[in-house]
Amino acid sequence: MTVTEKDEDAKYVDALAYALDRGINFTEIALGYGHGQALALFKQALTKSSATRNDIFITHSLYTRDLPSMDVVKEDTANFYKMMQTDYADSTLVTQSLILKFGETVIYPFLHELLKSGKTRYVSLSNASPDWIRKFRNEFDDKFIAHEGHLSFEVRALQDKGVFDVCKELGIENIIWRPLGRSKTLQRNWPLLVELASKYQKTQGEIILNWICSLGYRPMIFSTSLVHIDENISAIQFKMTSEDYARMNDFRPTDYRPAFVDWEGPNIDDDIVRLVNEFDSRTP
Ligand SMILES: NC(=O)c1ccc[n+]([C@@H]2O[C@H](COP(=O)([O-])OP(=O)(O)OC[C@H]3O[C@@H](n4cnc5c(N)ncnc54)[C@H](OP(=O)(O)O)[C@@H]3O)[C@@H](O)[C@H]2O)c1
Repeated sequence: MTVTEKDEDAKYVDALAYALDRGINFTEIALGYGHGQALALFKQALTKSSATRNDIFITHSLYTRDLPSMDVVKEDTANFYKMMQTDYADSTLVTQSLILKFGETVIYPFLHELLKSGKTRYVSLSNASPDWIRKFRNEFDDKFIAHEGHLSFEVRALQDKGVFDVCKELGIENIIWRPLGRSKTLQRNWPLLVELASKYQKTQGEIILNWICSLGYRPMIFSTSLVHIDENISAIQFKMTSEDYARMNDFRPTDYRPAFVDWEGPNIDDDIVRLVNEFDSRTP
């Protein structure tokens, strides 16, 4: 919410318009982000940029914390189309916790109806276990386009659990949230990142994003800086050796024991977010 404080609006709109003009064409928006303000700013940015609605892929996300009832879920969805002045979402995203909160018999028909009516082209899932990814795939087949999960240099719980592998196996896109650990990863100067940045004459951020892309995943990065946006795009324009990619894959912080995640539980979102945030509070 702090990122959508009024006095910063112009900065966010300019950064988003710049990213769209540079060809970044995927975004994920929840009405809960900044109480709707993030969506309003994105709409302004789209108008300002040279991109059109059909050039971009917008995922409308339904996050459990914002949605106390199915009536609010439906209201949120209707407001997305209205505020975005669009007839459709490219994908509608639910989390495992939302499915568990309202039940498969409620959420699945809701999503099927959106698909059938053309209100959404695809469906996506976030913060789900491998078993739930398989279940969702059985239900929605090739309409299930992407799973959003966390991967950063330090926090590998989803990688170790096999979340990304199961998506790859099923042909589902792996969208990576918070890939730079809100840029804190870059401030820790991990020796491997420092070494590879020096070897390839790139920044540590470029090394991380290049590694994530080498796995076939799509990092979703927040940035208000035009310099950072350029840098993040250039991260896909070089290759490292297979040995260096393997070292990136194999890295695990030695003094870090990941927090507990109840992979099949109704609070998996909270558990994963805690896992990510807890790492931040434990290390310098
Ligand atoms: N599915 C989910 O449960 C979930 C959860 C959390 C987030 N998300 C999504 O993931 C997106 C990204 O996550 P995030 O914003 O939490 O974390 P992030 O993208 O890892 O980090 C964003 C921070 O990194 C900085 N940054 C970006 N590029 C940089 C670069 N090249 N060098 C140095 N710093 C750089 C940004 O600062 P500047 O503005 O200065 O560039 C910003 O402070 C969010 O926008 C959201 O849509 C999804």
